[in-house]
Amino acid sequence: MTEKKEPFYITTPIYYPSAKLHIGHTYCTTIADMVARFKRLAGYDVHFLTGSDEHGQKIQRKAEELGITPLEYTTKIVTGFQELWKKLNISNDDFIRTTQPRHEKVVQYLFQKAYDKGDIYKSQYEGWYCTPCETFWTEQKLGPNHTCPDCGRPVERVQEEAYFFKMSNYADKWLDFIASHPDFIQPLSRRNEMIQFVKQGLEDLCVTRTSFDWGIKVPFDPKHVIYVWFDALVNYISALGMLDEDNSLYKKFWPANIHLVGKEIVRFHSIIWPIMLMSLELPLPKQVFGHGWLVVDGTKMSKSLGNVIDPMPLLDTYGSDTLRYYLLSEIQLGHDGNFTLPSFVQKVNADLSNDLGNLLNRTVAMIKKYHGGILHKHDSLTAEDKDLAQLAVKTTHDYEQYMESMELNKAIKSVWALIGRTNKYIDETMPWVLSKSQEEADKVRLETVMYHLAESLRIIAILVGPIIPNGAPKIWEQLGLADYDKAVLGDAAKWGQLADNTVVQPGKPIYPRFDMPEMVDVEEAVTKNKDPKADKKDAHKDTTDKKMINDTGARVTEGMDEAPSLPPIKPMISYEDFEKLDLRVAKVLTCEKVKKSRKLLKFTLDVGVEERTVVSGISNYYEPEELIGKKVIYLANLSPRKLMGIESYGMILSASDVSDHLEVTNVESLEPGSVVK
Ligand code: ME8
Ligand code: MG
Repeated sequence: MTEKKEPFYITTPIYYPSAKLHIGHTYCTTIADMVARFKRLAGYDVHFLTGSDEHGQKIQRKAEELGITPLEYTTKIVTGFQELWKKLNISNDDFIRTTQPRHEKVVQYLFQKAYDKGDIYKSQYEGWYCTPCETFWTEQKLGPNHTCPDCGRPVERVQEEAYFFKMSNYADKWLDFIASHPDFIQPLSRRNEMIQFVKQGLEDLCVTRTSFDWGIKVPFDPKHVIYVWFDALVNYISALGMLDEDNSLYKKFWPANIHLVGKEIVRFHSIIWPIMLMSLELPLPKQVFGHGWLVVDGTKMSKSLGNVIDPMPLLDTYGSDTLRYYLLSEIQLGHDGNFTLPSFVQKVNADLSNDLGNLLNRTVAMIKKYHGGILHKHDSLTAEDKDLAQLAVKTTHDYEQYMESMELNKAIKSVWALIGRTNKYIDETMPWVLSKSQEEADKVRLETVMYHLAESLRIIAILVGPIIPNGAPKIWEQLGLADYDKAVLGDAAKWGQLADNTVVQPGKPIYPRFDMPEMVDVEEAVTKNKDPKADKKDAHKDTTDKKMINDTGARVTEGMDEAPSLPPIKPMISYEDFEKLDLRVAKVLTCEKVKKSRKLLKFTLDVGVEERTVVSGISNYYEPEELIGKKVIYLANLSPRKLMGIESYGMILSASDVSDHLEVTNVESLEPGSVVK
């Protein structure tokens, strides 16, 4: 019986090899991977593409700095991308590099085609260019002091002969298309921004450069190279072998179902790309989905801010399922999400180790102990049994619907609700009591309970596959099942598939708990990467960035010079919450700079009852000698953590204002150990 499979084509952006990728980049790829895996599970014929965007001035300059060719440079970095995707368990079907001949020939062909049609013409470009963003800007759209309205960095004056693409001709056609395709741009807020943007009128787009040569040459005028975005966007069709003799992939998968992209590049994908395709008379993709940014402690990660988190050490320490689970479950698609290491560890310990991992462990251990590892199939009898069986089937349906509507975090939540219900089923049925009974009915009951636990886990194992593809097959194997890869979503929609007499295979815990010491390496990496002077800039950058992006990069100067403001008062806490803090007066006995750290000072404190070591990030504000002998207020019962290899106990309290002036608290007339309340 062969089922006719519907094609489904999903893409991520192709990444610039201008630097190493950070965990923000892994967000997009992880989402795309979950969707791709889900679609395969649901029976679609999936094609999942990612790749690298290797041309342009930015890359050429970088290679020149290093004294190597641009291709040598990009090849090295792109190899790193591929390792990262492997480590993150990304199931892409293809990886396109814009330096591959299969791509270059399609770009040249399409450029020629648009030119022949009269949609590309030669003129003179005079204006501004943001090299980091590879974006042209007109004078009116710039930020203050000639800065890029997207990233805030200085733009460069460009004056050169160039070819232009007649975008202006297509504004009405684009607006009509959007009106008749309400789902084309998601989420809706992005759609409205794009409509506003186009309604202001579209200018023709400069699509070639002559001042550098690292790009694809214009076929009929080779001193020009094609603008990187015109080049890059074509990857979505060049990768399908559009011009090849065997263009079966192109025929099957174009137009794409979803281009998944970050919010700052929705404009390129939802305006420029569709207009290119209109001009070329090719079908338009079905949807552009703009996701939010992953921010670290409230600020967008960027190399210039020095707050990037390298995913490699994170993955080495915690494995890939944990990062995938955190990104996918914590962040609502379309919104920004915050990454902090403590919340990451807490979340994976709670949901993966406790809820899921322990459920599996307890279940297979009990089956082993009570029934020698053998399952005995019985139908649902009691209210709890029926409740569990019904919920499992309903969860599969809910999950499917949430996934179809790209509500990934809700899909995950529904599965974890089933996991929670299954854990509760153990408490309700109390197998340890049943196991002690000699009654025949209780023996059957215990078998029924074990079967229900295992069967619920079988369904869970299928549903979590797209989220945590490492652990899911292990659940399957411990349940005594084979061929996880052959499981389909339909198998999760039917209760009672586990065969009578299946033999479970208890194994190691699939998600061991992480404790504080194991966080150390990553924490150190983060601290080391962080430029202490970046903090103030960050706060400012954050407000400007948000304004920019809200307004799609145009007309966004308002808000740029907004003064930083005090944070709002946090939500109320109870007196009991306050009482949990052990605040003391402490005297600084020693204070010195931490080697190799620009920010950290190491203290020995007399806290009355004992001496304590504390590391504090205030070296920008004080010379160590100034602090020796001071009496400060000290939080004595904060869990210790390691910073730059030093175990730090508690925290010295300090205050800082909006202009980044900082003072440690100071109480001179009290003895060390005095209680603050
Ligand atoms: O824009 N959180 O490449 P890119 C979430 N080459 N997503 C983030 C992020 C963060 N902190 N930082 C970056 C380009 N991204 C072009 C694309 S497509 C034809 C050409 C996302 O390497 C960003 O939003 O600068 C974008 O979707 C992707 O990483 C690639 O960014
Ligand atoms: Mg970018």
